[in-house]
Formats: sequence, C-alpha cells, structure tokens
Amino acid sequence: MSELLNGLKRTHYAGLLRDEHIDTRVVLMGWVQKRRNLGGLLFVDLRDREGIAQIVFDTKVSQEAFDKADTIRGEYVVAVEGVVKKRESVNPDIPTGQVEVFAEQIKILSESEVPPIHITDEDGAAEKLRLKYRYLDLRKPKMYKNLLFRSQVASVFRSFFNSEGFLEVETPFLNKPTPEGARDYLVPSRVNPNKFYALPQSPQLFKQMLMVSGIDKYYQIVKCFRDEDLRADRQPEFTQVDVEMSFVEENDVIAVNEALMKKIFKETLNVELETPFMRMPYKEAMERFGSDKPDLRFGFELKALNDIAATCGFGVFASTVEQGNDVRAINIDGGLETFSKKGLKNLEKFAKTYGAQGLAWMRFTEEGIDSPILKFLSDEDIQKITERMEAKTGDLVLFVADKPSVVFAALGALRLEAAKQMNKIEEGVYKILWVTEFPLFEYSEEEDRYVAKHHPFTSPMDDDMNKIETDPANCRAKAYDIVLNGSEIGGGSIRIHTTELQARMFKALGFSDEEAQEKFGFLLDAFKYGVPPHGGIAYGLDRVVMELLNIDNIRDVIAFPKTQQATCLLTNAPGFAEVHQLEELFLETVSPKKEQA
Ligand code: AMO
Ligand code: AMP
Repeated sequence: MSELLNGLKRTHYAGLLRDEHIDTRVVLMGWVQKRRNLGGLLFVDLRDREGIAQIVFDTKVSQEAFDKADTIRGEYVVAVEGVVKKRESVNPDIPTGQVEVFAEQIKILSESEVPPIHITDEDGAAEKLRLKYRYLDLRKPKMYKNLLFRSQVASVFRSFFNSEGFLEVETPFLNKPTPEGARDYLVPSRVNPNKFYALPQSPQLFKQMLMVSGIDKYYQIVKCFRDEDLRADRQPEFTQVDVEMSFVEENDVIAVNEALMKKIFKETLNVELETPFMRMPYKEAMERFGSDKPDLRFGFELKALNDIAATCGFGVFASTVEQGNDVRAINIDGGLETFSKKGLKNLEKFAKTYGAQGLAWMRFTEEGIDSPILKFLSDEDIQKITERMEAKTGDLVLFVADKPSVVFAALGALRLEAAKQMNKIEEGVYKILWVTEFPLFEYSEEEDRYVAKHHPFTSPMDDDMNKIETDPANCRAKAYDIVLNGSEIGGGSIRIHTTELQARMFKALGFSDEEAQEKFGFLLDAFKYGVPPHGGIAYGLDRVVMELLNIDNIRDVIAFPKTQQATCLLTNAPGFAEVHQLEELFLETVSPKKEQA
C-alpha cells in the first residue's frame, strides 16, 4: 500500500458531485479553497479542475478528521474520504450546490504558503503577477476552461483531418534563415561555426516539398516563431494548424475548410454554420470596411466621397482629391448619444494614431447639423453628403481625407472602436467569411521594392499572370484569408508549381538568379522533378480559440505566453548565456547602444 496516499484512490472529481451521488462513499483530492470552523462543524471548500465541493467535518463523525482539518489552510493539497449527503442549505450558485461530503478522514498531501494571487475568476491581480505565478493563475476555473476548450478545438482539427485522409507529418524546427516575411529567431550552430539556423515562421516550404513527395494531403499542429512587434493577437511563438493538399484549386481548399469549420463550431459550441461562407474580394473588403479582415457583426460601412469632396468648399477635402488621394466617411448611426464633443476629441486622437491628419465630423442633432466643417460647405454639398451617408437625426458621420492606406486604416479602426464603445457587438454571434483576390505584391516603402503580400510561393490569378512584370500593383493572387468576427484566423493560397513562374516571381521581388538559387534553390530544384499543383492554408490556433471564446487577449488562451516584450515572466526567459557557451558557439555579445537598450 502506498505511503503517499494512505492507499486512498480518488473516486470522483469534487466539481462533478451531483444529486445522483447521494449516499455514495467518495474519495476526493484537490486544493483547499476555503475553511470555516463553526465550532462542532468545520466546512472546507475543496477545489479540483472540475469545480468546488463542500466538505463537512463533524466532531460527531470523526474527532480526528475534524482536528486535522482544523490545521489546513488555503491551497493545501488534501485527500478526503467521506459520504455524499443532501445539503441542508442548498447553494444554487455552484453546480455541486445540492450536496456536501461528510468527511471521515483527511490526509494532507502537501502544504501551501499564502499564494500571491487569489484562485478565483474575480481575482483582479495585475497581469504581470498572473504571468509570474502562471501555475497558480491556471488553477482559476476560467483559465482551466480556456485550456480545456483549446484542447477540444485541437482535437476536432485532428479528428477532421485524420478522417479526411490527411497525414500528420512533422517538419524541422532548425532551418535555413529566410529573407522574406517577419524577422527570424536565429539559433547559432556549434558544429558549424558562424552559421545559424532559423526557427520556422511557418512550415511553408516543407509542406510544399511534401506535396512533391506525393504525401498528397498533409496537416500539422505546429509551433511557429516570428520576431515581430507584438499585439493583443500576436505572440512570438504561436501555434498553426498547417494544411496542404495536392491536385486542388482554390474552391477545393475552401470546400474542405468550410466542412472543417462547420464541424469545429458544431462540436465545440453547438453552433450550426451555414455553408458556403460569404466570399469578398480584398478590394471590396477595403472599400466597404477599411480592412482585409472585416468584422461583419455591425454596419458603419465606408462610403467614398471623392466626387463631392473634389468641388466642395473645404480646402482639405478638395486638395486631397486633387492630389489623387481619398476622402471617405462612415456613418456611426445612432452614435450621437455615445460620442460627446469630448468623445469626438478622443476619436480624433485615436484616428491620428493611424496616421490621419485630422478627423472631421458631422453630428446630426435635433437642432440640425453640428460640424467644424459646416461653414466651408454649401447647402448642396451638405445635402449630397447627407444623402450619400444616409444620415438622419441621431447619427454621427466621421470623415478622413488622406492617402488611401491611411483612410482605410483610420476609418477601419474607427468603425471598430465606435462599435465597441456603443456595445454594438453582440455575444454569441459568429460572422465568418473568405477574403479573396488579395494583391500578389505589396509595396514596401522601407525597402523601396515590392514584397510578397502573402509569401513568394503564392500563385497569381490566371487573369493577372501577365501583370507580374507590367502592373505588379494590380496583380491579384490566388490567396484567401478566413476571417471570423474581424480576426484573421487563417490564410493560405494556391501555390506556384512551375520553376519558370517561381523564377519570374523571385525576379519581380528583386532577387537576382544567384540570390534566388542561394536562398530557395532547394525548392526550385524540387520543382524540376514532377510537382503536383497544390495549395493549402494555415490557421492560427490561438486566434481560433480566442474568437470562439470571444476573448480579446491571446495570452489568456495560451498556457505559458510571452509578454509584449517577448519575455516569460515565469522563467525569466530570455536570459544571458554563459561565456563558455558563447565561446563554444564562436559568439561574442555587444552591448546595445543606450537608445537601443
Ligand atoms: P500566415 O502568415 O497568414 O500564413 O499565418 C497563418 C495564420 O497564423 C496566425 N498567425 C499568428 N497568430 C499568433 N501570433 C502571431 N504572431 C501570428 N502570425 C500569424 C494567423 C494567420 O492567419 N504559410 C502560410 C500559410 C499558407 O499559405 O498555407 C502562413 O504562415 O491566424
Ligand atoms: P481645421 O479647419 O483645420 O480646424 O479642420 C476642421 C476639421 O477638419 C477638424 O475637425 C479637423 O480634425 C478636420 N480635418 C483636418 N484635416 C483632416 C483630414 N485630412 N481628414 C479629415 N479631417 C480633417
């Protein structure tokens, strides 16, 4: 018999005890949430991952157990044996509230110091503290629920792909650095002095080579690493559900993934999704929502006003159009009430963080239109704007005049911000769509050249094949993103599968033949030996879970996440390396300049 547990074997989870267990003898094991000594009776709330049950220690049942229970404190780990009884004063607030356990014996398995955070969902501890003591934070019911849900979602992904004949294949983490995309995390090689591996930003090239190998259908749930600026929905290491298929076109990939999403929603949320999902070309998404990941749960669509603005009396608008730029606006219908003049000042500040020069507005009050630009506009201009914006009393119209990228970014963000502040976003509503026909290229001001919008292996659309060299700005790709409630939960494309087209693409991206060969020669070589047409997609698993649970913070769906500074507050990663480690790697460190540090 084991010393450790006194031969006790857990029979039930505390949090799962119900009416049906009345008169059952149970052994429970878990953490002490709370202890109250009322004299002859002592109550302990015992918590395990499934919830909390009330344990009663009665001197009439066992004086010894009572005395021992009187020594325990919060977060002690204990084993309790007793009999389930109907509770006298039912607690309707918890699922086990109908019953309690009359304890006959208790064994203290481990003691605990006073924990630095309270183990309840209502604990308002600062996130820093939560991350430092993550193992305690994860004891909270909400965090457990998030991890459980994540595990269930991953399991549905797996079972779907397995049943559809996909192979889960692992691809390497120690790879060749690539020049495209985000910044790589580099790993120095000890046995190859001065050389580095890069951790994968995605398994893109390996999954394509698996198609050359004839694997035909591949998936993998895999960690990816990107050294990029972090935001609420980005982590330096995150998880992709990565997928690739051979002998397919866009519609085939989309159909498989719609069936997948349908299953995920049904099995995790019991929500029926209608298929096919809406498809929206990138251009339309930008013009209507100012975003390539439109949130369709509310309106406030963008309207173009260039025709009216060009001839209007407000100099900023007219000159913006004259310079070939855009004037667009959104009608925050019903927004008058929510946004006072002070609220509008804040919205203007907000718009400026997206590069806007200013934010013009019109408030449609009972007394007429109130606006800082009213004095510049003729009655006719005002009439035309009101009609175009379909504005009525109670509405608020917001205008931005700038180059298109700024107008879209600012108005796209304003529509989200306004919807949030107006509580327009209903819980339990799921709007899913495909954004298609992405541009193949994107101009990088920083690098003064075109870069791949998705990645350099994405195929142009058949109709745009000859624009690669002649009109790159308007060359569209066979690329698609899947967008759920305004979040890009996945993205993919049909790939280039000929050496010639791939070489044209590299050239258009500014690589010389030598550079292309140096960096991607292995792919170009692989394409010489029979490559099936192929395409795929990758989901951000963290984001899928966030959106299904309607959680804003990616860290709340990851067991051990990193901070915005890419640090781990629990382990204090990253850390300094020992001098001898650096020497083995032929490395020296250089102190950052003051301004970099
Ligand atoms: P992409 O770069 O669009 O495509 O990535 C696919 C999905 O991964 C998620 N994602 C992230 N999630 C959290 N933190 C991050 N830093 C992060 N970066 C990306 C997003 C995104 O939609 N190889 C291609 C896929 C393909 O073409 O098949 C790729 O990686 O949800
Ligand atoms: P002004 O006459 O400069 O005070 O501008 C009148 C209004 O127009 C203010 O509310 C400004 O915020 C706004 N405004 C200025 N520049 C722009 C712009 N580029 N786009 C939209 N509104 C602007």
